Amino acid sequence: MLNRRGVLAAGGIAAGVFGVPKLLVPAEGHENSTHGKHPVTYQESKSFSGPKPVVVPWARPMPVPPVLRPLVSTPKQEIYELSIDDTTAEILPGLQSPVLGFGGQFIGPTIRAKTGRKTLIMFRNNLKEGANVHLHGGHVPPEHDGHPKDIIAPGRTRLYLYPNTQQGTTLWYHDHSHGTEAQHVYLGLHGTYIIEDDSERGLGLPTGAYDVPIMLRDIHFDDSGNIVVFDDPAKRTTVLANGIPKPYFEVAARKYRFRLVNTANQRLFKLKLTGDKFTHIGSDGGLFGESKVAAELTLSSAERADVVIDFSKYPVGSKVVLTDDVAGEILRFDVVRRASDSSRVPAVLRPLPALPLSTVDREIDLAFLFKPNQRPDGLINGKVFDMDRVDITVKRGATETWLIKSSDPVGVKHNFHLHLVQFRVLERNGGPPLPSDLGLKDTVPIMGGETVKLQATFTGYTGRYVYHCHFLEHSWIGMMAQMEIVP
Ligand code: C2O
Ligand code: CU
Ligand code: CU
Repeated sequence: MLNRRGVLAAGGIAAGVFGVPKLLVPAEGHENSTHGKHPVTYQESKSFSGPKPVVVPWARPMPVPPVLRPLVSTPKQEIYELSIDDTTAEILPGLQSPVLGFGGQFIGPTIRAKTGRKTLIMFRNNLKEGANVHLHGGHVPPEHDGHPKDIIAPGRTRLYLYPNTQQGTTLWYHDHSHGTEAQHVYLGLHGTYIIEDDSERGLGLPTGAYDVPIMLRDIHFDDSGNIVVFDDPAKRTTVLANGIPKPYFEVAARKYRFRLVNTANQRLFKLKLTGDKFTHIGSDGGLFGESKVAAELTLSSAERADVVIDFSKYPVGSKVVLTDDVAGEILRFDVVRRASDSSRVPAVLRPLPALPLSTVDREIDLAFLFKPNQRPDGLINGKVFDMDRVDITVKRGATETWLIKSSDPVGVKHNFHLHLVQFRVLERNGGPPLPSDLGLKDTVPIMGGETVKLQATFTGYTGRYVYHCHFLEHSWIGMMAQMEIVP
């Protein structure tokens, strides 16, 4: 058990922690029943006792996470080292909050990979407890997937190999250690992983300094500025863009590509631009067939949106604000200079692969099991996650149709994430998919009472992979299951 100064667990593990509206909970648990088989590693320990520093909007710039430099780079592979650290970050102005971070940074460095060139990363766990790394959305062998049971012990290293056989896209890497993933990701074990490919480069989209990842997440600070870990997600009212609340970002009057990544533990962003629209060019698994104009983007935990914003129509001095329907203003783009721009956004981007014939149908149900005086369990098809149990067996190469549903009441929010492969959403609630369901996906929102029908082809590797709700306090209490891909 760690005592972390400045980090505290809220009063207990009541249903509120799981984002369940109180009215929907049949028998509300006691506020302090934290016992259960998963350890709660971060205990209450307030180090800040003064008043919480005031966030002055647009007072600090949004940082762009540095791109990690390889130790070795050849056309065939790149080799990196990256640590997993206890560290601090100035999230609130003037306050060094204790956090966790890849490479000592609250927003981990960006890893830029290339289709056809392997990435090898030696991760060193400098924490006092186990951790691991999962490349979210990556098509990787099972031993490199950050399976919940594959833990890097404190002080140890593990080499992860990412083949990068998939097309260009925006992925992210995060902790997936069994029982501690929710706390670890919440405290900062998240970073962006971008795969580039030659055919994408040929499209002429904005690149270099004009291709910027933005990790969006929320966090709860108490009245003194301590980070609260286990709490009602509705209290996570401070929204961060690359680790900073309400930052500004100086842009030139030209096109920018922004890769929006929702790294919040459990949140659905509904994003808009003041007086403008996004050009939406891709989602979790890569580019769309065609670019689309989107007035609003819906992004649940772990989903990505690849967008272009064209600032060329704005005079220098203009401001464009990114807003969320609940959090309000998140990030302000300040147009500060003119610039030439040879980039473009073709109407036709990259045709999606044809859908093969599906031969297997499955139903996956995500639900809570509420228990009096205890925290609820998270269930998939009626079972709590057991990392030694195989829930379904999938034949390698098979194309399957999964009907994802939640038998929870309307008002409960979940989402669904499948490891190993990207899928396509065929239907939502028996009708056409929503705009946010389009393209190659690995994560989709699913609300109580809803159904989402998706199709996936399980190419590549055999072995055991998980699928789960990516509201991490839900997978943490068991809303996760395991498939085994067999030859
Ligand atoms: Cu983003 Cu199973 O993970
Ligand atoms: Cu994943
Ligand atoms: Cu859930």
